[in-house]
Amino acid sequence: MSGDSPSGEGIDIKCVGLTKTFRDFWMRPRVRAVEGVDLEIRRGEVFGLLGPNGSGKSTTIKMLLGLLAPTRGRIAVLGRSPRDVATKKHVGYLPEESYLYRFLSARETLDYYGRLFRMPARMRRQRVDKLLEMVGLDAVEHRPVGEFSKGMQRRVGLAQSLINDPQLLILDEPTSGMDPVAARQIKNLIAELGSRGKTVLLCTHQLSDVEDLCGRMAIMYGGRVQAAGTCDELLARSDRTSIETPLLPVGVVDEVRGVLGRHGIDEITIEQPRRRLESLFLEVVEQARAAGTHTSGARSGGPMAAFLQEHATESESAVEAITDADASPRDKAAPAVDTNLIDSLTRR
Ligand SMILES: Nc1ncnc2c1ncn2[C@@H]1O[C@H](COP(=O)(O)OP(=O)(O)OP(=O)(O)O)[C@@H](O)[C@H]1O
Ligand SMILES: [Mg+2]
Repeated sequence: MSGDSPSGEGIDIKCVGLTKTFRDFWMRPRVRAVEGVDLEIRRGEVFGLLGPNGSGKSTTIKMLLGLLAPTRGRIAVLGRSPRDVATKKHVGYLPEESYLYRFLSARETLDYYGRLFRMPARMRRQRVDKLLEMVGLDAVEHRPVGEFSKGMQRRVGLAQSLINDPQLLILDEPTSGMDPVAARQIKNLIAELGSRGKTVLLCTHQLSDVEDLCGRMAIMYGGRVQAAGTCDELLARSDRTSIETPLLPVGVVDEVRGVLGRHGIDEITIEQPRRRLESLFLEVVEQARAAGTHTSGARSGGPMAAFLQEHATESESAVEAITDADASPRDKAAPAVDTNLIDSLTRR
């Protein structure tokens, strides 16, 4: 973990009363996309943002990134305004659409993003190597991304969001278009990043991704947060008990029924659990790979890029040494706190 939150409270995203109304050409309110959203996302947690199409998830994310100005409400990201350049340096973003230059190769694309962060050439090369391997695109790194399948483009997008080794990662539908093997690898990667102290805001329609990964979540509808809490708070059923055992012989099943019956419990379901389709799929693909079956698509992803495993300090300091020549000393530390902003949010 790369240290305490700059706020000192371990909170990387806080927004209060966040509201966005899109207006038409005549400035009349047209769509109320987000209304009065309060969110608090802690350092090192993987937080799920759910909701049906048009419920306001992407609009919320764009405001957290400083890409859209809120109509009302207040936001602190890493203790600062989201529009602050110093905030953006520590944030990685995977948009819901892959916006890639068709004629650049995967390597050139990542190198381009590395240049935007003004990384030195050697660091760019090392990080691009590691990220291409991590997302399983090293074998196709010289092909133009315009030729890539949708899932392969998502992989490039994910690698791009990690090039600056961000403290906060905002992922808008990261597994959309990915095959189940890649989706599982991305989920493992997100879990790993979370366990290493990165904060992840995960926006997805894959409910199982949220169940597998997120400690807490919010469910939006009509621009508002309708339910929020931990998985246990939202999903545990306090009125049921389930017991799973190794396969029971018929006689034992009858005995169990008898015992429960004596306690007046006759509403009993005893069945053989099914494995998840995901685990069968992964096994089938693994067997095909082991048999050497040819594919022109993406390969299995590799291990997590080493620079993402390091403490923030070493990898960041190399970038910041060249990017921050004219920044104030406060900017050079991992994002410093705007205590007034945090206070004003907390006081409400
Ligand atoms: N630039 C825009 N101009 C006008 N309306 C917009 C704009 N962007 C989003 N909206 C509207 O705001 C509402 C919320 O959209 P948003 O993209 O945030 O939903 P979402 O929850 O991300 O949906 P999805 O699951 O389909 O990605 C929708 O009614 C949408 O049409
Ligand atoms: Mg969206």
